[in-house]
Amino acid sequence: MSIRHKLQGKLGFGTAPLGNMFRDIPQAEALATVDAAWEQGIRYFDTAPLYGAGLAELRLGEALAKRKREDYVLSTKVGRLILDEIEDPAARDMGEKGGVFEHGLPNKILNDYSADATLRSIEDSLKRLKTDYLDIVYVHDVAQDFYGDQWLAQFEIARTGAFRVLDRLRDEGVIKGWGLGVNRVEALELALDLKEARPDTMLLAGRYTLLDHERALQRLLPAAQQRGVDIVVGGPYSSGILAGGTHFEYQKASPEIIARVERIKAIAQKHGISVKAAALQFALAHPAVAAVIPGASRPERIAEDHAALNQQIPSAFWHEMREQKLVAADAPLPTDKE
Ligand SMILES: NC(=O)c1ccc[n+]([C@@H]2O[C@H](COP(=O)([O-])OP(=O)(O)OC[C@H]3O[C@@H](n4cnc5c(N)ncnc54)[C@H](OP(=O)(O)O)[C@@H]3O)[C@@H](O)[C@H]2O)c1
Repeated sequence: MSIRHKLQGKLGFGTAPLGNMFRDIPQAEALATVDAAWEQGIRYFDTAPLYGAGLAELRLGEALAKRKREDYVLSTKVGRLILDEIEDPAARDMGEKGGVFEHGLPNKILNDYSADATLRSIEDSLKRLKTDYLDIVYVHDVAQDFYGDQWLAQFEIARTGAFRVLDRLRDEGVIKGWGLGVNRVEALELALDLKEARPDTMLLAGRYTLLDHERALQRLLPAAQQRGVDIVVGGPYSSGILAGGTHFEYQKASPEIIARVERIKAIAQKHGISVKAAALQFALAHPAVAAVIPGASRPERIAEDHAALNQQIPSAFWHEMREQKLVAADAPLPTDKE
């Protein structure tokens, strides 16, 4: 069953930055960012144990404790257990994401997609989040960027472990939906074709953005739409570069990426709009996309996101983006609805 209606508006909030992504964020600033999201009307929050080794969940739980639970939708993830044991966050193997959470908590992170670990992970998340239920659970990062050549082996562990547990929990009404939360399209393509334990909501990060959307566009999004599977777009700013930051895919952006963003920026300036607005509205223009969840660690970003969502973008901007091949010829654009 589609949970699209439960996402309560197209703009959600992604809490990866609250796990001290890239910098040591003061607690008060992190909590104020969640409050700002709430005040702007955001009612869908995504988090994960991985984000700062429990830190983002703890902060989100604290910030939302004063709200009525039935008033918001909450997703978190399974596949990583946060242990009491301590490790050096800077020395963790984070695949292509390098030291993205080196300012997070120093608790050891254990990758485990088995059935038992899934149940334990949910229990741990409920405690950190100070809640007694989750709405959506994503299986986190079973993909090439974290496991290289071993990703299919991890996927298989998840298929016979986490996927079956989550499917059962949804059937029992314990959770409302489940899927995968990944930065790669291939894992979602595989999951969509499963015959048993079928996901209903997928979080695709960084692969339906202005800078990278070809592959998702060709097969994943049409197939998801056909099967009634909702897509939530994470990382709509490619981790910052499309919003005025310096990161692309959680690393310092390369000169090629900076040059491409400059081309987009020039067209945006010509038409009097922000790249941020184009980034958010591009993701939402695809009918398979149920919500977009930009992340932030500063309260002032939230009003900016909200304004970006509502900014009027002239069709001439999109036509020029198409003409300059900065968006795929067949990507649905906001202007196609006019
Ligand atoms: N595998 C997965 O399931 C997966 C992977 C990636 C993401 N996600 C989800 O998607 C959410 C969004 O992705 P994301 O947070 O990684 O990246 P994002 O939304 O693409 O970008 C967030 C970054 O943009 C920066 N930013 C925003 N406005 C800015 C401005 N005006 N100037 C400079 N920088 C600006 C923010 O900086 P500040 O921190 O300074 O505000 C933040 O670091 C995540 O939080 C997570 O919930 C899931």
